[in-house]
Amino acid sequence: MQSICIQNLLSNKMVRSYEKIREDEIKLMIEKVENASSCSPPSPVNLSQLFMTLTNDIICRAALGRKYSSKEDGIDVENIVRAFSALVGEFPIGEYIPSLSWIDKIRGQDHKMEEVDKRFDEFLERVVKEHEDANKDTRSDLVDTLLTIQSDKSALKLIIWDMFLAGTATSLSFLEWAMTELMRNPKVMKKLQEEIRSSSRQGLFVTEKEAEKMDYLQAVIKEALRLRPPAPLMVPRVFSEDVTLKGYNIPAGTQVIINAWAIQRDTTTWGIDAEEFRPERHLDSILDFQGQDFKFIPFGSGKRICPGIGFTSALIGVTLANIVKRFNWRMDVEPQRVQHDLTEATGLVVFRKFPLIAIPSSA
Ligand code: HEM
Repeated sequence: MQSICIQNLLSNKMVRSYEKIREDEIKLMIEKVENASSCSPPSPVNLSQLFMTLTNDIICRAALGRKYSSKEDGIDVENIVRAFSALVGEFPIGEYIPSLSWIDKIRGQDHKMEEVDKRFDEFLERVVKEHEDANKDTRSDLVDTLLTIQSDKSALKLIIWDMFLAGTATSLSFLEWAMTELMRNPKVMKKLQEEIRSSSRQGLFVTEKEAEKMDYLQAVIKEALRLRPPAPLMVPRVFSEDVTLKGYNIPAGTQVIINAWAIQRDTTTWGIDAEEFRPERHLDSILDFQGQDFKFIPFGSGKRICPGIGFTSALIGVTLANIVKRFNWRMDVEPQRVQHDLTEATGLVVFRKFPLIAIPSSA
């Protein structure tokens, strides 16, 4: 199933074929920011919300064939993604101590999960039905392909859900934190803007080809993935055999959770400034995020490594490049305390607890 998803959505060839979708949606986002920046005085924009709509619309168009917006379809997909991501990051007591599973019921955990499940199921039902009813000669996307090979509807919905959540929430979290760090570090922001403005055509959209060649932009992306990995605890694994590790005997079947967040802030590997956002550290380094080096694993490693690296790399580089090329950003929105609060929301994917709101002005 994974290889079918890769072939039909995540392969290099497919990722390249969605370039126009990315460009359309980023331009729509920029239009909204332009409207806010041309007010007098410029009005604040909720970047978290804009990035959510952007990533959601791009994944919907690429994987499901069209956008699904809450206004037209009455289904608030964006909220379902947020709610689900928060729920799976909470500690399900009953899963570890079955005799205490009643606690999950009392604290409303089970009910919340059923509610999200029901809302998402309605959404997927609609997606599948639309694809079944559509004229097969005029369209072909991931869902169409899956429908021809998978007759079990529940399995099919799970795969779509998996791709959808894995792709939307992570890319949104990345953009939210990368912009937060850029605004907190004005020197880095300035250097990045200088690179982008001097190596792309004035007043025009930065293309994906141009963004790929920008060394400092690529270093900024790596640094944001290092300091603020969107999925810090990976997919849980289980030991397949008994292992002795640093004097501890760990029996087969034990669950292992790998903490990429801690690994990527370890001062023995990254130096005493490991907690600082300093993209320069990547400029002369050959360290990459393809899972070969265990010091830097924002996309995981081994068999379960993220299959969406190409899909997301194409999206986040060009989004960042355009949004910082066209606008200068200020974070001094009231209440300042909330804006500068870096608290993370709980969840499998780590969002900001408070949305990122900033004031754009045209460059
Ligand atoms: C900045 C963006 C992203 C980050 C940081 C990220 C990170 C991760 C991580 C850490 C894992 C677990 C890997 C492991 O445990 O070894 C993962 C798995 C996965 N990712 Fe991503 N991801 C991103 C974007 C995407 C996108 C855009 C898609 C698809 C459209 C995607 C699809 C998946 C899938 C399907 C899995 C599960 C693979 C499996 O368990 O076999 N990801 N991702």
